[in-house]
Amino acid sequence: MYPKSLTSIPLGLLISTAAAETIHGAVVFSRHGDRTTKWYGSQTLTSLGAEQNFQIGSDYRSRYLESGSDFQIRGISEHEYKPSQIFASAPDQGILMNTATAFLQGLYPPLADLDPEIASQTLNNGSKSRAPLDGYQYVRLHAVSDNSPDTIWIKGDDSCPEYATASKSFLDSDIFHERDEATRDFYASFYDVLSDGVYNLKPEDMTYENAYSIFDLVNVARIHNSTSATRRVSDEDLLQLRTLADSAELGQNWNDSQPARAIGAEALSGAVLAQLNETVASRGELKFSLFAGSYDTFLAFFGLAGLLELDDNFHGLPDYASTMAFELFTEGDAADEFPSNLDEDLRVRWLFRNGTFGELETFPIFGLSEDSMSWSKFVSEMGERAITDVGDWCTKCGATEDFCAAYADDGDDASAEAETSGKGGMSNTVAGAIACDRLTI
Ligand SMILES: *[C@@H]1O[C@H](CO)[C@@H](O)[C@H](O)[C@H]1NC(C)=O
Ligand SMILES: *[C@@H]1O[C@H](CO)[C@@H](O)[C@H](O)[C@H]1NC(C)=O
Ligand SMILES: *[C@@H]1O[C@H](CO)[C@@H](O)[C@H](O)[C@H]1NC(C)=O
Ligand SMILES: *[C@@H]1O[C@H](CO)[C@@H](O)[C@H](O)[C@H]1NC(C)=O
Ligand SMILES: *[C@@H]1O[C@H](CO)[C@@H](O)[C@H](O)[C@H]1NC(C)=O
Repeated sequence: MYPKSLTSIPLGLLISTAAAETIHGAVVFSRHGDRTTKWYGSQTLTSLGAEQNFQIGSDYRSRYLESGSDFQIRGISEHEYKPSQIFASAPDQGILMNTATAFLQGLYPPLADLDPEIASQTLNNGSKSRAPLDGYQYVRLHAVSDNSPDTIWIKGDDSCPEYATASKSFLDSDIFHERDEATRDFYASFYDVLSDGVYNLKPEDMTYENAYSIFDLVNVARIHNSTSATRRVSDEDLLQLRTLADSAELGQNWNDSQPARAIGAEALSGAVLAQLNETVASRGELKFSLFAGSYDTFLAFFGLAGLLELDDNFHGLPDYASTMAFELFTEGDAADEFPSNLDEDLRVRWLFRNGTFGELETFPIFGLSEDSMSWSKFVSEMGERAITDVGDWCTKCGATEDFCAAYADDGDDASAEAETSGKGGMSNTVAGAIACDRLTI
């Protein structure tokens, strides 16, 4: 298969893709697509949003699964979903579960169109059977509930008191006060436009403290509500609202001198490391992992990975359905099999695609100058930043989740014992009172 815009690709690039490489595995983290506003809570993916996540899933299919692709993952099943090759997980919230589902529908579409042979089975009495919806493939998706220790990996900033405190302290910073002062009139000017459609909005809500909510209300209404007065908001003002929201959200999810604001990204880093490590440990058996999560984790990761210094664009919120990918690969047309010299032959690179429009692009991370690094370098760089164990998260967060009790440090013997028992089953149902942090999705 040829790249879509073959003619616009410089010759050098064509030559360099000829020196092929082998991809062994990838981990993708995706934001949800278009959704209803989060002002009222319980936001849901819209049909447009599902379409976006589906499109992104199809595009990753083109990259990692299709046999003509230069980036096809070695040995991956092109058409038929094989459970041992794929891992997918999302928090047990409708919008993120649906995000992952739509992505997976694009990754492994119904079989009837791909391979009619395997789409149907012949029974012993000679009749044929085919799965519903043209051979729809049921890709397994792990829903992680709030009271499972695994909840920390994708949304490690939820129910984390240290994060909440650090994040809120942005409101005490000089820069917050400056912006708040400077934008009072600007925000007040949107009250009429919004109060018309948002019944519980008060004049005092119209400040920089609600930068994201105000941007979100205007943005969502402009996309979906044909009678809303927000349609009168100019593109210029919308951009200003967005830029202010960018700065407020980044402020709450990153501060060089306050690591607790990036706990969500530290936990996600641990999850990515574990998935890629599993690919290595299984010598390429696990091939592709998907997590669906939130923009706050993206922003915190941009800070943690040194991307904010690399490119100002990383100061902005990633668009709906944005994805980041970690690829494990071998240079040269090496391998029919998994490399045995891990350090020499395995490399990792990081890629980002902004929403559905942009290209998937590689960026150097961790302040390195190269676009990729050796596996061992990756393990040590990620290791420095990642939370790799639930007990660690509980301690860093000062968390009071039930599952943290199993990791509490009551002296050496007790904690060693607790660690082992905590790894296994989950504790009782959570007694109603999960601190409900702002859901930043
Ligand atoms: C063949 O077997 C299946 C399963 O028992 C049944 O549903 C189907 O009606 C049978 N077909 C014929 C032609 O007997
Ligand atoms: C970043 O953290 C430092 C140290 O806690 C604090 O003094 C500063 O105000 C914070 N900056 C912002 C923008 O939150
Ligand atoms: C759309 O806007 C109108 C006018 O502002 C408002 O009355 C209505 O509630 C809005 N609809 C939705 C779904 O928000
Ligand atoms: C990586 O895999 C090895 C072998 O299974 C295991 O011993 C190690 O703990 C894993 N490391 C991480 C960070 O998951
Ligand atoms: C993604 O797109 C948004 C809006 O289009 C922009 O504000 C942001 O800076 C972009 N991020 C990156 C990393 O390109």
